[in-house]
Amino acid sequence: MLYTIGDLHLSFGADKPMDVFGAEWENHAEKLRENFKAVSPEDTTVIAGDMTWGMSLNDCLEDFRFIHELPGKKIILKGNHDFWWSTASKAMSFFREHGLDSIEILNNNCFFYGETALCGTRGWFCPRENASDQDKKIMAREVQRLETSLKAAGEAERKIVFLHYPPFYGKYYSDEMVELLHRYGVRECYYGHIHGAGRLLAFEGEADGVSYRLISADHVGFKPVRVI
Ligand SMILES: [Fe+2]
Ligand SMILES: [Fe+2]
Repeated sequence: MLYTIGDLHLSFGADKPMDVFGAEWENHAEKLRENFKAVSPEDTTVIAGDMTWGMSLNDCLEDFRFIHELPGKKIILKGNHDFWWSTASKAMSFFREHGLDSIEILNNNCFFYGETALCGTRGWFCPRENASDQDKKIMAREVQRLETSLKAAGEAERKIVFLHYPPFYGKYYSDEMVELLHRYGVRECYYGHIHGAGRLLAFEGEADGVSYRLISADHVGFKPVRVI
């Protein structure tokens, strides 16, 4: 099976108790561990960003150990809180050095689950009106990363896109991201980042042939969501 979930926001190595974000976050790591018991060692889970609060790879070691010990293969992508991320290759060598060999990184590449291509990037929030040059620049880079990932999928008939930021949310709308999904025949898009009351504004359902789903941990009850 293929699963996905976003925003684990682990803090084994940082002083960041998550229950301040609401009662549902109390003991959330325990909830995750319990709910991952439904996942088997042959399964794969895409974790859509905001894995940990740690600021450096060393700060995050316990969090990554926790992720590594969850069953199956884990493919992670970057979220806005992943400050430990300098480059994907540095993180990969850190994981290998510490024997965290069940973790892979989705970044300018794609993974195959059977015949299905798993593509994605972090994304960004860029308002449709009056966006700053800085936001436009970051968004353009993310669009490029998504296209690189989609190109890596080659002729795969089914391509699933995982993002940290939704392609559209309230005043934010990335025409370029949405256009890429359509141009590359993507019909499924999973995203995280949105928590708590903000979830009321999140779009879930089908729009122009693409189905969108929010999979931030609190939104899905800290249970990985089955994709395939
Ligand atoms: Fe986020
Ligand atoms: Fe988050």
